[in-house]
Amino acid sequence: MNDNETTAPGESGALVSATPGGVVAQSQADAVDRFENPGLPPHVHRLADDDESAAKRAERQVATMFGLSMLGALVFLVAYFVVPDESTFYFPGIGIASTQNVVLGVSLGISILMIGLGAVHWAKTLMPDTEVVEERHLQASSPEDRAKAVASVSKGGEAAQLPRRPLIKYTLGGALGLFALPLGLQVAGSLGPTDVEELKTTIWDPSYNDGKPIRLMRDPEMTPIKLEDVTNGSVFHVMPETLQKFIDEGKHVLEAKAKAAVILIRLDPELIKVQKARDWGVDGTVAYSKICTHVGCAVGLYEQQTHHLLCPCHQSTFDLTEDCTVIFGPAKRPLPQLKIQVDDAGYLVAPQGFDQPVGPSFWERLR
Ligand code: FES
Repeated sequence: MNDNETTAPGESGALVSATPGGVVAQSQADAVDRFENPGLPPHVHRLADDDESAAKRAERQVATMFGLSMLGALVFLVAYFVVPDESTFYFPGIGIASTQNVVLGVSLGISILMIGLGAVHWAKTLMPDTEVVEERHLQASSPEDRAKAVASVSKGGEAAQLPRRPLIKYTLGGALGLFALPLGLQVAGSLGPTDVEELKTTIWDPSYNDGKPIRLMRDPEMTPIKLEDVTNGSVFHVMPETLQKFIDEGKHVLEAKAKAAVILIRLDPELIKVQKARDWGVDGTVAYSKICTHVGCAVGLYEQQTHHLLCPCHQSTFDLTEDCTVIFGPAKRPLPQLKIQVDDAGYLVAPQGFDQPVGPSFWERLR
């Protein structure tokens, strides 16, 4: 308010402000008084409220949805054990997809969707839809209040007609119970491989190439690499030539590819301090798994001056001159080295797979 304004009580006792121009502004309290409580719209009865046959029909519809949810969960369980991991098919617009993943995803989606739709339809057709005024109480947690809460839940169950609609009660129980099984199975079965041999075996293993050494290929061009292509300080992201076979045969390649990623670097051979690292490389050119031994990010940063490899996720740092030992960060073991040689045509090849598991080291704790 400025100096030219005067204030006086209004008719309703609220304050009004008179401005020099004669305009009177009512206070907020008066403005609120001008609106009447609009109340609630008249209650409209639903079909199922008055017609028992409509209620029965709604009950069957809800039960059908919960039944479809159970069916989805059962398909999930069967597919989990029956559809082979490596089975794939061509999905237009996406490419090669894992059959098992698609079946599991669709069946689990149907299972949860049907529980949701069933619950919504149940609420819209059979549960009470009258407006209820709920008074606020102090938030107390006395035994009496808890007892009241339990009684209120029971009453809610009765209001939802659970005791009168055993079909819904049992199918809902079945749907929720069965739905928990796929979730448990997913959690238990998806915590990663615990078999050390499985982690150690990648498609760098000569068994994937009829026992012959495997060529190192540029990623993603998939062209072979000659030793003279690798100049001092250069870095190559490398995949095994066996990956192409996987792709040509339409196999599911993502997991194999993730485990096989390798980084190839050339440095002055005199800088390499560890004899084994030197022997497993060629003239200062060395290859290491690109999967961080902390939690599996791609170790893709190379500091040419210090010869350090850095993981961008949590800054684990590996020293290339010391067989990629960890010099900083949370990783607990060196990056596994891939032994390389040069074949008769001058291309770099791996005569053997990794001699230790690639990736995170959680498996060590199992021992
Ligand atoms: S994943 Fe590499 S440091 Fe954490």
